[in-house]
Amino acid sequence: FNVPTPVNEPVKEYRPGSAEREAVKKALQDFRSVETDIPMYIGGQEVRTDRKLRVAPPHDHQHTLGYFHEGDAQHVEQAIEAALAAKDNWASLSWEHRASIFLKAADLLAGPYRARINAATMLGQSKNAFQAEIDSACELIDFLRFNVHYATDIYRQQPNSSPGVWNRLEYRPLEGFVFALTPFNFTAIAGNLPTSAAMMGNTVVWKPAYTQVLSAKVIMEVLMEAGLPDGVINLIYVDGPVAGDIIFNHPDFAGIHFTGSTGVFQAIWGTIGANIHKYKSYPRIVGETGGKDFVLVHESADADEVATGLVRGAFEYQGQKCSAASRAYVPSSLWPAIETKVKEFLSEIKMGVTEDFTNFINAVIDERSFKKITAYIDAAKQSDQVKIVAGGNYDGSKGYFIEPTVLQVNDPNYRTMCEEIFGPVLSVYVYEPSEFESILQIVNSTSPYALTGSIFAKDRYVIEHTSKALQNAAGNFYINDKPTGAVVGQQPFGGARASGTNDKAGSALNLYRWVSARTIKETY
Ligand code: SER
Repeated sequence: FNVPTPVNEPVKEYRPGSAEREAVKKALQDFRSVETDIPMYIGGQEVRTDRKLRVAPPHDHQHTLGYFHEGDAQHVEQAIEAALAAKDNWASLSWEHRASIFLKAADLLAGPYRARINAATMLGQSKNAFQAEIDSACELIDFLRFNVHYATDIYRQQPNSSPGVWNRLEYRPLEGFVFALTPFNFTAIAGNLPTSAAMMGNTVVWKPAYTQVLSAKVIMEVLMEAGLPDGVINLIYVDGPVAGDIIFNHPDFAGIHFTGSTGVFQAIWGTIGANIHKYKSYPRIVGETGGKDFVLVHESADADEVATGLVRGAFEYQGQKCSAASRAYVPSSLWPAIETKVKEFLSEIKMGVTEDFTNFINAVIDERSFKKITAYIDAAKQSDQVKIVAGGNYDGSKGYFIEPTVLQVNDPNYRTMCEEIFGPVLSVYVYEPSEFESILQIVNSTSPYALTGSIFAKDRYVIEHTSKALQNAAGNFYINDKPTGAVVGQQPFGGARASGTNDKAGSALNLYRWVSARTIKETY
């Protein structure tokens, strides 16, 4: 069984009048015109409760998209039981059998479900059509196909044998169940975290963010239609502490696949540590957490390229990417040209609902995010250390809209240069070109994170020198490009320090974490 290296799923453009745009418009209308009922899925059964929570588009929060059924402690127990009950059968299926289910799921997403999952992401998570397409269609399809390909490579790797001795490695799944805790901001990540563990023979309890349940439901529909056996992935909507209390106290808890905030991940790690004597095995802890991603500009850079990189890197998907450019260091020699260009781009950008295909900026995810982000903007307006270069306005009355905001700060340690905001706010510190060496130190040390970062420079020596000097400052380092938009199979994604365990998503490095190998020596 050999899966050739897949090609990345081509990105559709959604031009006016195109078939794909018409299909998405219809799917948007379908979601808009009914209230979608969103059950949990436990052991292959749809589970409903009498606690129904409302789902609304972040850009139109008075509209009801549907209701999801919130579960409680007993649903967590049921999901764990279903995962454990499904385990033996799933792990004993041939790898070809398991792989074929995920390849079929990828084809369903690429074809009949493409418009539906994109529409769910556009409405539920407020992504524009292009951002939805690269996330919930292309990236998720790529995760499924590339992970199958990498898993095939892993299963093939075997130790040497010698005459009279046959050695082999059995890549067994972990003993127990895996917990996938997934974020709102990428449908692809929400889909990847449970499926990558499941591919390696594990069964999973999956708890998505409450702000991603609409597209989570579509992922589940796709997996079931692709033939995923009951109980392999169990999707529950349960309050975090309620779920955590049961899962992290369970003897069969075998690992967590997490993307979310640094604070939550660190708290989970502490809980797992405190409970370590309760588990049958040491749980695998795999997490991608926060970021404070930098763009460092050298005086040899091209100002137009930098401006494009800053606007796209900072403001696509309203800056709600863990990879988003949020702090920039620009030499005074280039700042006037970059500032002019950034303002020009931002004046051309439209903000509004996702259903209008011309809007580049949509809403931030919910009221909590809106309040957090706008508090940073308000504080910046009050501070004499900050000049508002662009944006700064917001209006949460109909949707959680915040203008793309550029702050010029006169202190590289000002809080918006150090703290993760997770919204459309870019802070810029303008330095004198002669200070480049000390700026390298500042980039490396002003934030605890190390997820992504960029250097813009044409000088080859500077590129090499910066790359070495910042080798621990970013798990994904970009040269003359924005620090976002990692493509599965091309730029394996993940960071270190407070940004995560750096078990690169969409690579063999990640899949290895979901196996517990047995070495067998047979003498004959
Ligand atoms: N993988 C995304 C990016 O690179 C972030 O999660 O932008």
